[in-house]
Amino acid sequence: MGKYCTDVPRFSDAVNEQVAYEFGASQQYVAIAVWYDAETLPLLAAHFYRQALEERNHALMLVQYLLDAGEKVVIPAVSQPQNEFADPVAPVRLALEQERTVTEQITRLAALAREENELVGEEFLNWFLKEQREEVASMSALLSVVERAADSILLAEEYLARQQIGDAGADPTAPPAAGGAL
Ligand SMILES: [Fe+2]
Ligand SMILES: [Fe+2]
Repeated sequence: MGKYCTDVPRFSDAVNEQVAYEFGASQQYVAIAVWYDAETLPLLAAHFYRQALEERNHALMLVQYLLDAGEKVVIPAVSQPQNEFADPVAPVRLALEQERTVTEQITRLAALAREENELVGEEFLNWFLKEQREEVASMSALLSVVERAADSILLAEEYLARQQIGDAGADPTAPPAAGGAL
């Protein structure tokens, strides 16, 4: 493939694509939160409602980056998330899978930035790489909690009542989000 090959996506197009993935992740977390809510597991529900807001915020950080770069932004349709789960462990397993997929997406995006010499974009993505490392770690921790509590999922609720997983509070190094901070 030559340097001027036109079927290579431009970095900003790829960032716009990531906006869709982040909104998709947000919708999936709302669906998981609602499922736990319907099962009367309020702390697991609260955890995922919060995660959903974080993912929406990630999407809006990417939007702000595109706005700042003077690029056209297209707000995408989002495909329907999974709404049915076999048991209370399944949603967290899906969430961990999703975080791993997003890590791969961000890594590819960073590689594309490097390839296209988008140094500002590459620097911007460093925060997202760090965020993914934290989110994969905290979702893995939550998975071991719910797996251990599989016979009595209320133990997972008790755990969450005592111990917060993830969400270290406001992060002053976070990039600005369109519409203002979360
Ligand atoms: Fe995200
Ligand atoms: Fe995430």
